Amino acid sequence: MGTRAKVEALLAARAARKLDLGGRVVLPGFVDSHTHLIHAASRAEEYELKIAGASYEEIARKGGGILNSVKKLRAATAEALKGRALAALREFAAHGTTTIEAKSGYGLDVASELKILGLHRQLANEQPLEISSTFLGAHVVPAEFRAKPDGPAAYVRLLVDNLLPQVAEGGLAEFCDVFCDRGAFSWEQSREILEAGKRKGLAPRLHAEQLTRSGATQLAIKLGAASCDHLEQVNRADIVALGKSKTVATLLPGCNFHLGLQQYAPARALIEAGAIVALATDYNPGTSPTLSMAMILSLACTQLRMTPAEGIVAATINAEHALRREKEVGSIEVGKQADLAVFEVEDYREIPYYFGVNKCWMTMKKGEIVWSADSE
Ligand code: NIG
Ligand code: FE
Repeated sequence: MGTRAKVEALLAARAARKLDLGGRVVLPGFVDSHTHLIHAASRAEEYELKIAGASYEEIARKGGGILNSVKKLRAATAEALKGRALAALREFAAHGTTTIEAKSGYGLDVASELKILGLHRQLANEQPLEISSTFLGAHVVPAEFRAKPDGPAAYVRLLVDNLLPQVAEGGLAEFCDVFCDRGAFSWEQSREILEAGKRKGLAPRLHAEQLTRSGATQLAIKLGAASCDHLEQVNRADIVALGKSKTVATLLPGCNFHLGLQQYAPARALIEAGAIVALATDYNPGTSPTLSMAMILSLACTQLRMTPAEGIVAATINAEHALRREKEVGSIEVGKQADLAVFEVEDYREIPYYFGVNKCWMTMKKGEIVWSADSE
């Protein structure tokens, strides 16, 4: 990269193909560092209940929510799940995303969790986008363990003694995540699971302070987690601590938007405290059914009061820090992969400014065009 004269004088440039992008805006490809890629179906039936006033937690208590998706996933074949995920990955590419993180967590039994993680690996090998795999066996306690008095403890044992070793030995995930919140896992359970994951070589990350303040942010920092995500309920001490730590604060404003919740994460305070702020879609059927990072940028600007430039940094290089791949991708620099997204706009600020439409014109992964509006 550099000026035309400098680039054309390079030896490697002789064999390069010249692409005229017509003055469009070029960014590093978006890095979506929090997705629940593999799920069997939408939860459109719960959407209407939410609009009528039912809360996310009420729906979950009645057996809807994550358990609804678990039922659907267990009944789905690997082929059906793969087909749905492949279609989603093409959509990610069409929206300018070149790397995603993908979590398990809708299986919640040994066979189904391993099925999801196996699909992450297959998908990473069979299509161009990079997939960073996360084990989220600790999403919620599955229904069959809830009936027994010591069920939750027994499920934690299954995760720590049975699943985690298999995931680690199979090299099926880089990260271990826990949903630490009311109705999911406690602070103590989260610590036990993440420490066990760490001993097996899986770096921790956390769903933190989404519905209630559980102390998960401080736990994430203490464990040296790659990121803690959501953060709608953080307090001042959490913000100050994130400002001093290398744990990335990943904000997911799509959840607030979809659930109709007003209390967005305090992005400005986090940025002012010096935290590394990232943005992600949280693509999932329950709280954020979108895979458009540009839509997330629009929400970041209007609801989190981030500037378009802060939003783009949060959606690219800071997100790569959350995935610990910042040395290879996340910015346009000599020595990094050519992961690029080209937008049909005149000014980068127009990417969040136009909302609910896809302005991505071309997407390139490792120097290859993987999606182009012209070939549609
Ligand atoms: O990131 N908070 C937990 N997990 C997801 C929601 C999953 C679901 O509702 O299916 C989230 O918001
Ligand atoms: Fe999530």
